[in-house]
Amino acid sequence: YVIGIDLGTSAVKSVLVSAEGSVVCEHSESYPLHNPKPGWSEQNPEDWAERTIASLRKLMEKSAVDPSEVEGLSFSGQMHGLVLVSAEGKVLRPAILWNDTRTTLQCRRIEKTMGSKLLDIARNRALEGFTLPKLLWVQEHEPEILSQADVFLLPKDYVRYRLTGSFAMDYSDAAGTLLLDVAGKAWSPEIAEAFDLPLSLCPKLVESSELTGTLLPDVAEAAGLLASTKVFAGGADNACGAIGAGILGEGKTMCSIGTSGVVLSYESRKDINPQGKMHFFNHGEEDAFYVMGVTLAAGHSLSWFKDTFAKDLSFDSLLAGIEKVPAGSGGLLFTPYISGERTPHPDADIRGSFIGMDSGHTLKHFARSVMEGITFSLLESIDIIRQSGKEITEVTAIGGGAQNETWLQMQADILGANIVKLESEQGPAMGAAMLAAYGCGWFTSLAECAERFIRPAKTYVPDKDQVETYSGLFSIYQDVYGQTQGLNE
Ligand code: XUL
Repeated sequence: YVIGIDLGTSAVKSVLVSAEGSVVCEHSESYPLHNPKPGWSEQNPEDWAERTIASLRKLMEKSAVDPSEVEGLSFSGQMHGLVLVSAEGKVLRPAILWNDTRTTLQCRRIEKTMGSKLLDIARNRALEGFTLPKLLWVQEHEPEILSQADVFLLPKDYVRYRLTGSFAMDYSDAAGTLLLDVAGKAWSPEIAEAFDLPLSLCPKLVESSELTGTLLPDVAEAAGLLASTKVFAGGADNACGAIGAGILGEGKTMCSIGTSGVVLSYESRKDINPQGKMHFFNHGEEDAFYVMGVTLAAGHSLSWFKDTFAKDLSFDSLLAGIEKVPAGSGGLLFTPYISGERTPHPDADIRGSFIGMDSGHTLKHFARSVMEGITFSLLESIDIIRQSGKEITEVTAIGGGAQNETWLQMQADILGANIVKLESEQGPAMGAAMLAAYGCGWFTSLAECAERFIRPAKTYVPDKDQVETYSGLFSIYQDVYGQTQGLNE
């Protein structure tokens, strides 16, 4: 067996996976999120470590598997969060998380200081969520804390440190710091020097499947595992989500519709740069990359719609019969910018819209147009990838949006690609388990592991007529952004 640990924002989930790739047991433990000021989002790294060890213990108790049969474990982690640690291993302040928005000024400072060099080296724009702006915030507001720091870590790296006693960070997570030379796979002295940050603050870089140690004896005892259990580095949650969905080769792309929506495509070219419109990060597979676009309110748009206009209905009854509403929702168009947007418009102020309302429209027309608007937004990311010269003919659908037949067919018709639904979906925790399985030497590559562990269940093929209807509507959809900027000022 191997264990995959997914250190999320609300909970840590551990899964025990057999050599055949079956999840034989899983357990989650939650922890609090703190918002001491508006826009601030922090967590206590001690909570992560404690709950991770508790989740491992519960997993071992529930499964009744002999600990000697667990060969290794690895991690998937919420990205970007800043953990500052002293030379003695003490956490110096609460972790500042990916969804903390206090760092707008620091982002402007980074852009001004680095200019176009930022995209050349770090390959991403400065966004509030990333780690370097957080480091600069601490440098400006709590210099005495930064001066005590020996190393900065990302959330799952801190937990791994607590489990093994050694500091390391993998490339896929380091890519989200803005301090990494992404294509060169090394910390950037140029960026660190530009902001007076000692390069020694950056931990040792490792591959996601690299062995970083074994469990400390007291941790092993508390977790119900053996101290000989191998601990592999692990990766960023999006990289692990990609591995867990089998996005492990040229042309592989996934579309995840959860609270937010993600389009993520495997990339072996290190020199493509979609003008910083997409994120460009290192993959969990050695020497591979991925491009990623984010729709901030994907499933969130639909749950907002339900809670606002159809509170008493379940999702199932809201969506029942939705396939009978014609493609294009009878002229009703929705843009899902209810809490701003990230890709292709990094714009926190834009707001959504319903356009083309008719007195004959019913609740179902509105619900369908919300689903279509969300999917159009994801097509904008796919389009940017296609413009980079990549053909996308097949997309693996995951998340809540992959649980509804009509939405799956709609994704095929709007994205203009075959949509593959998987037999069972475990998300980033499975990706982490696969890193451990590959790290243990069970497979010669992650792709070989995916062949064994991940099974497609059904393929949805685009319908020619619907594709035509939607492509006409998409150009109107794309115009709405520019026309509605400034509406809420
Ligand atoms: C990615 C990002 C989120 C976090 C969530 O850039 O901010 O997906 O990784 O954990």
